[in-house]
Amino acid sequence: MKGVILAGGKGTRLYPLTKATNKHLLPVGREPMIFHPIRHLVGCGIDDILVVTSVDHMGDMVNCLGSGTELGCSLTYKVQDGALGIAHALALAEGFAAGGRICVFLGDNVFRDSIRPIVERFRQQAVGARVVLKSVHDPERYGVAALDEKHILEIEEKPQKPKTSFAVVGLYFYDSQVFDIIRGIKPSARGEFEITAVNNAYIERRQLEYDIYAGAWTDAGTFESLQEANKLMHETANAILS
Ligand code: G1P
Repeated sequence: MKGVILAGGKGTRLYPLTKATNKHLLPVGREPMIFHPIRHLVGCGIDDILVVTSVDHMGDMVNCLGSGTELGCSLTYKVQDGALGIAHALALAEGFAAGGRICVFLGDNVFRDSIRPIVERFRQQAVGARVVLKSVHDPERYGVAALDEKHILEIEEKPQKPKTSFAVVGLYFYDSQVFDIIRGIKPSARGEFEITAVNNAYIERRQLEYDIYAGAWTDAGTFESLQEANKLMHETANAILS
């Protein structure tokens, strides 16, 4: 399985921190934020990784990460023109995936504890996709899952009245159907090709499985959550590799 880290977007919620710098290059703990998903993936044996970022910051990203050798991986880079959403960025990974399965990591998501058990469950999964849920106090900021004991019934992107507290976090697993699915989705009201539309398409095919992440998690897209991400990274030390 290959890894894809999505590290584009404008990071406007963090202005002026992100005026000249890509959000994923901001410091979290002792390292640039982008090191965190790479270390998780490498810790799970996923060492062939594509990084997608915007044209404005590709130079800085390559300066920061190079070939990936220092982090124990091989890196490939792709430029996302415009900021048309997560699914739009993911479409750029089709050639890299080469018909295989992928683990997609949003570069601003911080997981304090290992994700390896989840990766292993997807390795055992016969077909389809897998998402990861976390109960949060502010679900309206995220994709929110309605579920029964076995299946996710529906995901709503940033609902005003969330049906549950389960956020769909930025760690997704897909089989090769994902690229055909992306070609079939339409932009949302906010003009983005949403990853939630992709996941709902897998629900329609009855091929979306889920895990609930037991560890501490946050995104780092707002000042408050960036502070939380720093706190988690100081706690985590090398926990993700154990
Ligand atoms: C994105 C996704 C959302 C998901 C979140 C996780 O939101 O659209 O479904 O819950 O990442 O971090 P964004 O951070 O782009 O607002």
